[in-house]
Amino acid sequence: MFGKNYSVLNPLGGAYLRDSGRPGSGYTSKVHIRERYHIVGFISSGTYGRVYKAIGKNGKKGEFAIKKFKPDKEGELIQYTGLSQSAIREMALCSELNHPNVVGLEEIILEDKCIFMVFEYTEHDLLQIIHHHTQQQRHAIPAKMVRSILFQLLNGLLYLHTNWVLHRDLKPANILVTAGGAIRIGDLGLARLFYKPLNSLFTGDKVVVTIWYRAPELLLGSRHYTPAVDMWAVGCIFAELLSLRPIFKGEEAKMDSKKTVPFQRNQMMKIVDILGFPRQESWPGLAAMPEFNQLQSMMQSMKMSSRGGLHYNKPSGLDTWYQGCLKTGSYSPHSSVGSPGADGFDLLSRLLEYDPTKRITAEEALEHPYFTNGEPISANCFEGCENSYPPRRVSQDGNDIRSGSLPGTKRSGLPDDSLIGRVAKRLKE
Ligand SMILES: Nc1ncnc2c1ncn2[C@@H]1O[C@H](COP(=O)(O)OP(=O)(O)O)[C@@H](O)[C@H]1O
Ligand SMILES: [Mg+2]
Repeated sequence: MFGKNYSVLNPLGGAYLRDSGRPGSGYTSKVHIRERYHIVGFISSGTYGRVYKAIGKNGKKGEFAIKKFKPDKEGELIQYTGLSQSAIREMALCSELNHPNVVGLEEIILEDKCIFMVFEYTEHDLLQIIHHHTQQQRHAIPAKMVRSILFQLLNGLLYLHTNWVLHRDLKPANILVTAGGAIRIGDLGLARLFYKPLNSLFTGDKVVVTIWYRAPELLLGSRHYTPAVDMWAVGCIFAELLSLRPIFKGEEAKMDSKKTVPFQRNQMMKIVDILGFPRQESWPGLAAMPEFNQLQSMMQSMKMSSRGGLHYNKPSGLDTWYQGCLKTGSYSPHSSVGSPGADGFDLLSRLLEYDPTKRITAEEALEHPYFTNGEPISANCFEGCENSYPPRRVSQDGNDIRSGSLPGTKRSGLPDDSLIGRVAKRLKE
C-alpha cells in the first residue's frame, strides 16, 4: 500500500525530479521548472502557495497545473530545509495514489527551496460549475450530471478510504473536473493516513474541514477523524449541487485569545435548522461528545424561544428542504433537467446522518438504489448536456512563477468560499 519510501527528496540537493507513477522511473537531478514547462498564467493563490497553468516544453505535451509551495518562514529549521509539513504530506500522498478519480501527479520538482508539484490540468472544478449555474438565469444542474459527479466522487473516495487516506477538506473548490467530464479529487494537503494513531484534532492541526462541510461529530468536539467525516462533506456537496448554495452556511466562531477552540454554535445551528436536534435514541454516543453541554444549552435556549417547539419536534426537515430544492430547481421526471427522485433523497439523508457510526460509507453509497436503479451512469458528467462551461480563468498578473511568492492575489471572478477559516486553516506544524 504505502510501503514505499517517501524520504527520497534531498532538501539540500537542489532540483530533483520524479516521474511518479511510472514504473522504473526515478529521480533526475538538476531539472529546472522553466526548462520543462512554459507558464501560461496564474490560476489561484491558496492556503499553501500559488497555482499556475503551464504547458509542456521540449517535446513534453499537454497542459498542467503547477502548485508552488513557498518555503515555510516560521522557524529557522523549517526555513533551512524549505519543506513544510503540508507540502511533504501532499507530495507523499499524491505520489502514491493512482486512481481515475483522484488528481494525477505528473512530477515533483524541487528548486530554490520551493516545491513545485505538477498536476494534470483540469479545466473546471465544482465551485466554478455551481457558480456558472447561478449566473444570469439561474438554472439547475441536470440530475444526470449530478448523479455522474457524485458517483465519480464516491469512487475516488472509496479508493482513498480503502487505502487508509482521509481527505478532510472536501468542498466544491477541491473537486476538479476535466474538460471530458471526469471528476478528480484534488487538494490532498490536509489528507492524512488515518491508521496512524496521531490523528487528533487538537494537536498540531488546528482547524481542518472548512466549516460549512464540517461533520457534526467534529463540531461536537470529536477528537478523531473517521471516513464518516468525508461522507458528511459529500452529503453537503450533493445538496449544494442540487440547490446551488451551501446547505449549512454557518459563520465561523474565531479562536479566542487563549487559543481555545471555540464551539461552532452558529454552524451547529444551521444544521439543526434543517435536520432538527440530534437525539440520543438515534445517536447513542451523543451524550459522550465533549461539547454535549453546549448542545444542551442550545436546546434550552431554543425551547424558551418562539422557534423552540418547532425545532425540537420537527421530524425530518431535510424532506421539506429537499422538496423545496426540487421545486426551485424545476427538477421533475418530465422536465429537461430530470429529477434525482426519492432515491436521491434517501441517499442524501444517509449521508447527512448525525451518528457517524450509522452514516453511509463510500462503498455502501455506491451500491445505493440512486445509482443502481435507472440508466447507466456516464463516466463523462457532461454527457448529453447542452451546457458548456466557461474555461478556467487564467490571469496574466503575477504569472512569474519565480517571483510570485507573495500571497494575496486570489482567483478572480469567483466568490471565495474559503476565506472563512483561511487564517485558522494555515497549519502550524
Ligand atoms: N490540476 C489542476 N488543474 C487546474 N486547476 C487547479 C488544479 N489544481 C488546483 N487548481 C485550482 O487551484 C485552486 C487551489 O488549488 P488547491 O490544490 O485546492 O490548493 P489550496 O490548498 O490552495 O486550496 C483550486 O481550487 C483550483 O481552482
Ligand atoms: Mg483547495
